[in-house]
Amino acid sequence: MLAILSAMREENTLLSASLKNVKTKNIGSRSYHCGELFGQEVVVVFSHWGKVAAASTVTVLITEFGASEIVFTGVAGAISEKLRIGDIVIGNRLYQHDMDVRPILPRHTIPLLNVDSMPSSAGRVHQLELAAKAFLANDLESMVDETYRRSLSLVDRQCLVGGIASGDQFISSSERVDDLRQRLPDVLCVEMEGGAVAQVCAEFDVPFSVVRTISDSADEAAAIDFPVFVERVASQYSLGIIKRFIESL
Ligand code: ADE
Repeated sequence: MLAILSAMREENTLLSASLKNVKTKNIGSRSYHCGELFGQEVVVVFSHWGKVAAASTVTVLITEFGASEIVFTGVAGAISEKLRIGDIVIGNRLYQHDMDVRPILPRHTIPLLNVDSMPSSAGRVHQLELAAKAFLANDLESMVDETYRRSLSLVDRQCLVGGIASGDQFISSSERVDDLRQRLPDVLCVEMEGGAVAQVCAEFDVPFSVVRTISDSADEAAAIDFPVFVERVASQYSLGIIKRFIESL
């Protein structure tokens, strides 16, 4: 079964509202909603924030619900200078930027897997990129309120494919952004869960993909940009992209 995991409660609320024939099961402080989404059998769930929360959620998805594939949605702070608020990143490689076992292992190396990053499902990266581009070109205008499209100048937004770095910290300083750019040059954006989902999926040999909407610039303005954006814009992005993605399957 396809699992749609969301890092934001608001995204999960919108996705759950579109489910048909819903059955909900509560396990470990999460509500797993099983049902039909745009004609596809899925389980949808809110991961909660941070690597541990995401790891435990995805473990339950795999072991209790038999998830055969995970698609993970959420928001992220921009690390690449190319990105603006309202752009989309599809992760082709996931890092845990706060993993540091030096001097025993090189920085960023995950002890169990002995790698510094984990690739996402290549085929899905391409499908999600197409879905995100179709959303930006055809659906954004009708799905996101004009007030927010205007105030955030949400026109000509782009979808990029690249690295995503995760850590148990909300990044909100230009110094930290510069540091991440130096340490992990192929990383486009930063969030708090994707690298953990990638690790659990690698351990269980389950394919995964990650799609993130840029909500902030991970600098001193990050916290100001964040809450309204998540509620009024990012949730619509996730619903629109997932709809296009499922329709393409
Ligand atoms: N998710 C969205 N914005 C973020 C940021 N600036 N740092 C970490 N996670 C985020």
